[in-house]
Amino acid sequence: MLRLGEPLPVSPTLLINERVHEAQAAGRELFHFGFGESRFPAPTALTDALARAASQTEYPPVAGLGDLRAAIAAYYSVEFDADLDADQVVVAPGSKALLFGLLKAFGRDVILPTPSWVSYEPQARMCGLAVHRLPGDPGRSYEWTLDDLGRTLDDVGPGGAVLLVNSPNNPTGRMFSDDFVEQLGAFARARDLPIISDEIYGLVAAGGVDHHSVSRELPESTVVCTGLSKHLSLGGWRLGVAILPSVEGRLRQRLVGIASEIWSAAPAPIQAAAVTAYERRADVEDYIEACASLHAARTRRMWEGLTAAGIRCPEPQGAFYLMPDFEAYRPGLAGRSITTSQQLSASLLDDIGIATLPGEAFGFPPEMLAIRMASSYIDLENKDRAAALLAGWNAAGRSPDYLDGTLPRMDQAIERLGQFASSLR
Ligand SMILES: Cc1ncc(COP(=O)(O)O)c(C=O)c1O
Repeated sequence: MLRLGEPLPVSPTLLINERVHEAQAAGRELFHFGFGESRFPAPTALTDALARAASQTEYPPVAGLGDLRAAIAAYYSVEFDADLDADQVVVAPGSKALLFGLLKAFGRDVILPTPSWVSYEPQARMCGLAVHRLPGDPGRSYEWTLDDLGRTLDDVGPGGAVLLVNSPNNPTGRMFSDDFVEQLGAFARARDLPIISDEIYGLVAAGGVDHHSVSRELPESTVVCTGLSKHLSLGGWRLGVAILPSVEGRLRQRLVGIASEIWSAAPAPIQAAAVTAYERRADVEDYIEACASLHAARTRRMWEGLTAAGIRCPEPQGAFYLMPDFEAYRPGLAGRSITTSQQLSASLLDDIGIATLPGEAFGFPPEMLAIRMASSYIDLENKDRAAALLAGWNAAGRSPDYLDGTLPRMDQAIERLGQFASSLR
């Protein structure tokens, strides 16, 4: 018998995805809102570039191919209005791996706003780091203030902390305002607080609020994490990007050291093909805009449907997520012995075939009745259908009217949720 430590469970988002696929394979009809994956076909410029790169069989340098890092530095110099050096860029198999490497490289307590993406806390714990929760206000779309942050920081010991933020946000779909980012930068500078800014959805903004990178306000101590997964629908390529505050110093050395001992490098053909993503080609930029606007319109349609059905939910601004809460239905739910987000999510799956994730997976107390729904999968289950929807969206001039009648499963699922809510009144 092997003697091992604490269990290390599979990440809830990957688990729900596997469960849904198993249930579907067994013939059960389910509506999959559990997993955030952009399903549109990748730009052909990129898939062609990958075909050309297939013969690159050598191990690449640990931090990544020089051409790719230079292209990324040039691209984000424009986005951040900075003069980035290629050596500030480290690429890896997914930004998830980089986030882990960065937490380990910082090696200090982690301040996590709540709700936060499912993997940050488990990663911090695997690194043996203490996590300090910074609760967002459910009455204000889960925003938190600098006073809240200051109070959380006061609990941190002499070793200091790193703040991990994420805008556009998974799970809430909210984004930081310009003012907030400016104030956050000034606050973090004054309190000597480094920031990891997960901006993986930075190019999936809905248009109402501009994505404002934290690194613009705090270039000397912000690390930005991004990658190809979301705005280019290339999650399976596993290419993540970290942009470090400087080429000097311990952070880069530690991150590259960790990378060298765990993943060695991101796959060479993927890296070679990824250069095409950062050349500001008109076709690739247009693809990014088309997908971002379609994700935004789909998410908004869901939000409108849910709020019309009496299910409260922060208004989405970016990424492809919604965080509805059922607090208003607490007595009706209690009547069915549903008092936690886990039970709520399980009931939605078992009783009406709607797959979601419980708020608990995002750091909420178990009894908070919030769930997360990803808008990115529904009606795009089949890849041909996803391609047809994107083509139709472009042909219709990217008008939200195009969605009337083209998202039957989304509409049906919202109706079911509305009936579920009414049955609780
Ligand atoms: C907020 C957030 N950060 C990071 C990631 C990881 O992305 P990847 O490892 O594909 O770069 C995800 C993926 O779902 C995410 O939602």
